[in-house]
Amino acid sequence: MQIKIKKSFSGKEVPKNTKFTYDKTSKRRPAWILIKNLPKNIMFLSTRIDGKNHHYKVYLSITIPLFLPTNYTKDEMRKFYDKFAEIYDDKIGSRNSKAAKFLFNKSKISKDAKILDLGAGSGISSVPLVKMGYKNITLLDFSKEMLSKAKLKNELKKCKFVKQNISNLKLNNKFDVIFSIFSFASNSYFNYEEMPTLWKNITNYLKPNGIFMLMGNDFEPPQLLIKKIKSGKYEIVSGYKAQWYIGKKK
Ligand SMILES: C[S@@+](CC[C@H](N)C(=O)[O-])C[C@H]1O[C@@H](n2cnc3c(N)ncnc32)[C@H](O)[C@@H]1O
Repeated sequence: MQIKIKKSFSGKEVPKNTKFTYDKTSKRRPAWILIKNLPKNIMFLSTRIDGKNHHYKVYLSITIPLFLPTNYTKDEMRKFYDKFAEIYDDKIGSRNSKAAKFLFNKSKISKDAKILDLGAGSGISSVPLVKMGYKNITLLDFSKEMLSKAKLKNELKKCKFVKQNISNLKLNNKFDVIFSIFSFASNSYFNYEEMPTLWKNITNYLKPNGIFMLMGNDFEPPQLLIKKIKSGKYEIVSGYKAQWYIGKKK
């Protein structure tokens, strides 16, 4: 694969001979490009790969020099997270743990509840739950490497792990609680067309009166399936408020 990084969209030039590493498992284009030592505030890249133009963007934070194609596929997103796993905890840190704790403090959930963490990643949203006394947690994610990081965490030793795509959920159990911390933004992970099926699938894996909670969601489940209990905004970093939602299966 021949890759030329041409320039950033912001007009900032990427210095010639800038060193970068990239995903070598994809045929069409890399699922990620990592450029350490890039001039600050470069969010977009224009590249030429095997004679074709491809555009890339930083994902989640401008301080993480890991680029993803602007029109990425789900498989590219999965591979991106496999790479991101190396630095995810350092970069995202405790802020998602706090968000999970915030959600669970908002609802009265029995410590024996059977809980599913959707898009659990490296487990930083499940760790605080174990610390709060929750005993029965399943972590589900489509990135093998993110889950590998989760499996290394002492607090999560007694949890179950499922490597699966949320879009095609096939589980053997139903849960008292299903929650997701920053893995449910439609603009990042799901598109509008697939949401009706996705909502039905998720609801299917909730027990009657089961609780569904989201942090960082940009749309809510249909009231016909899940009755909204509470929602609001949570200041995840100074100046940025994330949407949260709590509902109950009908
Ligand atoms: C921003 S991270 C959040 C991880 C974790 N909930 C936390 O609070 O740190 C988003 C996670 O969603 C996972 N993800 C995205 N789309 C997914 C999908 N369709 N199926 C399964 N996991 C998915 C990614 O692999 C990643 O681990």
